[in-house]
Amino acid sequence: MRKPIIAGNWKMYKKFSEAKQFIEEVKGLAPDADKVDSIICAPSLFLQPLVQATEGSTLQIGAQTMHDAKEGAYTGEVSPVQLKDIGINYVILGHSERRQYFNESDVSVNKKVKAAYEHGITPIMCVGETLEQRESGATASIVENQVAAGVAGLAEEQINQLVIAYEPIWAIGTGKTATAEDANEVCGVIRKKIASLYSPEAADQVRIQYGGSVKPANIEELLGMEHIDGALVGGASLEADSFVKLLEAGL
Ligand code: G3H
Repeated sequence: MRKPIIAGNWKMYKKFSEAKQFIEEVKGLAPDADKVDSIICAPSLFLQPLVQATEGSTLQIGAQTMHDAKEGAYTGEVSPVQLKDIGINYVILGHSERRQYFNESDVSVNKKVKAAYEHGITPIMCVGETLEQRESGATASIVENQVAAGVAGLAEEQINQLVIAYEPIWAIGTGKTATAEDANEVCGVIRKKIASLYSPEAADQVRIQYGGSVKPANIEELLGMEHIDGALVGGASLEADSFVKLLEAGL
């Protein structure tokens, strides 16, 4: 039985006062950590104070990206050592917005995934196809290639800890959700790919999230699917009430 993992991705939204207020409202309502992993991936600027604000809560704070080097002359970047040092245990890597606007590629995502493992941070590795790719029937091969490239060089015992987020790009922030069946089918393709690269046992343990216009009204159906173990949520993670409902759906 894979433990559900519900993560909010705030992207570049919220002022600090709003972020703190949100955490105050949600931190006492997050489910038991042995039942659901509850995470908010906040802007880098807010990470340290929000880690402090969630002390004693099952709500965890994650990062939205990081550099692969442990330190160096990389103006504006944040390293895995710095994240770990302030108590960050999850990082989103290779989000389609990072791939689209910040030139991230399968190769750079793979370097970051390996760096995250090296420093004890669980990667939430994002994959997903564009609308054009879906319409041309390329979804499975695109996603399989992204998964294979992203995990290249990882050992089987590392794979067990991996979280993969399947986010069809056409469903992000558009209000268009993939049907639960379609999302499940692609998550199944991802699981099969992990089985072929590693083993059926490893594939059985990898947690796969769906992301793309997830909201309280559709999360239960998505989580009810065989291969969907959680959600990576943008818009609907910005309001405390809605995020708490998403967490409760994981129970
Ligand atoms: O990381 C989250 C995704 O980009 C989904 O965003 O829930 O606003 O569609 P959304």
